Amino acid sequence: MSKKIASARIATESSALLKELNDSLPFDKALYAQDIAGSKAHAAMLAKQGIISAEDNEAIQRGLDQVLEEIESGAFTLDGGDEDIHMANERRLTEIIGDAGKRLHTARSRNDQVALDFRLYVLDNNRLITELLLELIDTFIATAKEHTETLLPGMTHLQHAQPINFGYHMMAYTSMFKRDYERFIDSARRNNLSPIGCAALAGTPHPVDRKMTAEALGFDAPTLNCLDTVSDRDFALEILFNISTMMMHMSRLSEELILWSASEFRFVTLSDKHATGSSIMPQKKNPDIPELLRGKTGRVNGNLIALLTVMKGLPLAYNKDTQEDKEGVFDSVRTALLSLRVLNEMIAEMKVNVANMERACMIGHLSATDLADYLVRSAGIPFRDAYHITGNAVNLAEEKGLDISELSLDDLKSIDERIGEDVIALLDNRASMNARNSEGGTATVRTKEQIAAMEAWLESVK
Ligand code: ARG
Repeated sequence: MSKKIASARIATESSALLKELNDSLPFDKALYAQDIAGSKAHAAMLAKQGIISAEDNEAIQRGLDQVLEEIESGAFTLDGGDEDIHMANERRLTEIIGDAGKRLHTARSRNDQVALDFRLYVLDNNRLITELLLELIDTFIATAKEHTETLLPGMTHLQHAQPINFGYHMMAYTSMFKRDYERFIDSARRNNLSPIGCAALAGTPHPVDRKMTAEALGFDAPTLNCLDTVSDRDFALEILFNISTMMMHMSRLSEELILWSASEFRFVTLSDKHATGSSIMPQKKNPDIPELLRGKTGRVNGNLIALLTVMKGLPLAYNKDTQEDKEGVFDSVRTALLSLRVLNEMIAEMKVNVANMERACMIGHLSATDLADYLVRSAGIPFRDAYHITGNAVNLAEEKGLDISELSLDDLKSIDERIGEDVIALLDNRASMNARNSEGGTATVRTKEQIAAMEAWLESVK
């Protein structure tokens, strides 16, 4: 085994066990592209500032391009026993270009290097997630548009409450995903600051130009305080929290899709592409995909709590504990990207069983509130009295085995003389849905208004 390139004080080789515990290359190799981009920007800055020669910079640029190519082609396999991706890239660079490679680490530490690489990784993936979120919102809008007249029992406490339309239900999720989108964007904006040039913890005596590297790497500016920067992992916590919240929304939807696929509901039929069979029961078609989305939400929550726990006891500045920041983030990011793609496809291809939804609206006296509202409006009856009269009408309907909307005028008049013929049309579920036409309400006109507003917003951010 070769002598470690970053251990001037350590004479003996590391024990195999230490290496297994200490090395992060097996997972931080995912940062290879960010590491090379950061090193290229750093070397160019060192040359411009006269800290290394122009020739050395040229060699480094060329060498790093080659390292990148070798990694992507598989020629450099990143399994040579290096401690981490930073050491691996530097070792390979020096093998290719010789002594100039040894100048790259001037005015830099792995502490600011890893802070940079990981932040770039988070920002890159933040962007991918926001792009997929916009596609998802688009798909929900398309489904909503087809179903602004499809009646669905709106629920509270998972009990039938009032009729709504299915498009309105879909639009509720677009509001959640819009907030998710804004949360990712907001985090990216806050964290778009460059750590490079902070060195180990306190800055460097070399005349570095941190604005130059920040600009070259697409950051708004350098961070303000190096001591904070080398151990700050808020940006990672933010993406973990944002993913957890987004997955929580997906999980709530998944729960609904699972219920809606059950025989008791049959409101939707997931495409065969997104359902699986049972190994023993030949008749089964299981909603494994929404179940997995719901289950993976537990895992991403675990990743968030794990990093919060790693960070809570760390004195300033860098501590090796923070090496534990990566695997959870990689896992949550991978899960988020995959879940967004799968959900998008599943919603686009799911069949909406309109007749079953509308039939379910005949269970539970969904338009009972409309009778109470009618009594308040047309007979000036105080709401609490109207509420009790309506309760009697519901009891009568139950006795007759009918829905409240199926009671005859005579039935209703037997409850209260003040009930007039005009109420019959109001108790119809569609009329009831359309009566809820206050701002943000379910009425088809209001749902269409919400769709238009969401589409305008989508256009404004695309
Ligand atoms: N692999 C390390 C990490 O992920 C890189 C930084 C190491 N710095 C140090 N001083 N040991 O945190």
